[in-house]
Amino acid sequence: MSGKIERIAVLTSGGDAPGMNAALRAVVRKGIYHGLNVFGVNRGYEGLIHGEIQEMSIGSVADIVLRGGTILKTARSEEMRTVEGQQKAIKQLHKFHIDALVVIGGDGSFRGAQTLSANGFQVVGIPGTIDNDIAGTDLTIGFDTAINTVVDAVSKIRDTASSHERTFIVEVMGRNCGNIALQAGIACGAESILVPEIPYDLDEISDKLKRGHLRGKNHSIILVSEGVGSAYKIGEELRARSGFETRITVLGHLQRGGNPSAQDAVIAAAMGGKAMEIVLAGESDRMTAFVNQTVISSPLAAAYGTRRPFNRELYDLANELSI
Ligand code: F6P
Repeated sequence: MSGKIERIAVLTSGGDAPGMNAALRAVVRKGIYHGLNVFGVNRGYEGLIHGEIQEMSIGSVADIVLRGGTILKTARSEEMRTVEGQQKAIKQLHKFHIDALVVIGGDGSFRGAQTLSANGFQVVGIPGTIDNDIAGTDLTIGFDTAINTVVDAVSKIRDTASSHERTFIVEVMGRNCGNIALQAGIACGAESILVPEIPYDLDEISDKLKRGHLRGKNHSIILVSEGVGSAYKIGEELRARSGFETRITVLGHLQRGGNPSAQDAVIAAAMGGKAMEIVLAGESDRMTAFVNQTVISSPLAAAYGTRRPFNRELYDLANELSI
C-alpha cells in the first residue's frame, strides 16, 4: 500500500458477538492515539454501500467496553456478495477519503473484506463470531462468552431435568461448526454431544441412556449443535428408541447477548490494537489471530482454503467421561 494513512473506517458485520464493542473501542482509541481520523460505518456492509459513515471520537466509544452487541449495528448484506455492491462500497470509501478499513466479523464478513482487498483497498479483519469457526485463529471474539452462557443455561436445565427425571436435548448455535456444543458440553458434563463434524448413532445414545438409568442415573443432558439438524426431531427419535421422557430447549439468540467475559474483552482489545498496528504498517489482506495465547497478524487467506480443524481429542474425551 502506498501513501500516508490518515483516515480509517471500521465496521461490524454478520452475527453480533460479545466483545465486538471492546474491539471497536480499541480500534477507535488506538487510531486517535496515533493521530488518525477514525470513522464508524453503521450496519456493516449494508451501511457502507449506502454511505452511513460518521466520524468517531474518544467519547463515542466510552462506556461500551463491557457492553454486548455492537453500537455500530450489524447486518448480513446480500448486496455485498455482488460485484455491483462491492463497487458501491469502494465508491463510498473513496467518497469519504478512507485510506483503510477494519472489518470485525465472521467468515462471510471476511469474504467481503477480501473482495475489497482484491480491488486494491487496504483491509484488515478481526474475527468476531460466537461460532469459533474461523480457520487460522484458535479463538474468535464472543466464543468464550457464548460457551459460558450455554454452561449457565445447562446448569439451570439440569436442576429441572434432575427433579423430573427427564432427558433434555439442548440445541446450541454454531452454524456448521460444533465448537460451541463441544466445549460447552465438556464444561457442563453433558451425557452426549452431537456435532456436525462427527456422525452419530441414536441407537448408541439410547443404549447409553439406558445403561445410565440402570446405574441409577435419573436424568441426562444431550447437547446438539444446530448444524446436526432439528433438536425436536432428534428428541422424538430418541424418545421412541429409549422410552425416556424427553424435553427440548433451543437456546437460540440468547447465546449472542450479554457482557463479554473478561477473556473475550481482553482478546478483543488486543485484536483491535493489533489491527491498528497492521493498518499503520500499511499492510492489507491481513487478519488478527489468537495463536498460542498471543494475538498475531496472519494473512486473511488463512481463514480460507483449509477447514478449521475439529478437536477430535476433546470430543473423544467427552465420550470417555460420560460413559
Ligand atoms: O454466526 C453466528 C450465528 O449466531 C450462528 O451460530 C447462527 O447459525 C446464525 O448466526 C444465526 O443467524 P441470524 O441471527 O441471522 O438468524
